[in-house]
Amino acid sequence: MTPARMADIHAAAFAGHGQVWSAQDIAALLCRNIIHPVCLGQVGFALVQILPPEAELLTIAITPTAQGKGHGRALLAAVLAKAESAGARRIFLEVAADNTAALALYKNALFTQTGRRRGYYRRGEGAPVDAFTLGRDLGA
Ligand SMILES: CC(C)(COP(=O)(O)OP(=O)(O)OC[C@H]1O[C@@H](n2cnc3c(N)ncnc32)[C@H](O)[C@@H]1OP(=O)(O)O)[C@@H](O)C(=O)NCCC(=O)NCCS
Repeated sequence: MTPARMADIHAAAFAGHGQVWSAQDIAALLCRNIIHPVCLGQVGFALVQILPPEAELLTIAITPTAQGKGHGRALLAAVLAKAESAGARRIFLEVAADNTAALALYKNALFTQTGRRRGYYRRGEGAPVDAFTLGRDLGA
């Protein structure tokens, strides 16, 4: 998948969340050899930073018209497999406290909360939203 397609999916999936990643931003991230793309056809992608023994899920997005059909679950499973095969033993991420779809996705994938960052996300004029930090072990 091209960085331009990733940027399109990201913009559509995060519309209203105040997170804008251009194709150039994504291309620059992919130049770093610790950042790996994981793609699901043309409907979704994730970027995961792997620096064994840890990995961090930087973003995951399914294009809105394809959401709710199990693609997110499949993509997250591919991310976990990728991180584990590259030597990571633990993966973590941060998620907005009001992102119910993502929270359900991660809970089903056995992530647990490790912390809370108050007022972490700022979206235009709205009140800031807390971030949860989540993590889970890999392998074993
Ligand atoms: C989060 C996201 C990747 C999930 O992808 P998806 O393809 O819609 O998810 P799936 O259909 O695989 O569903 C996975 C689980 O998430 C939960 N889920 C999905 N959509 C949901 C919704 N709208 N509300 C509540 N739970 C939801 C379900 O529990 C589901 O598992 P189950 O059916 O076994 O119970 C997708 O909604 C998305 O791209 N959102 C915008 C970007 C984003 O918020 N990324 C995460 C940032 S941390």
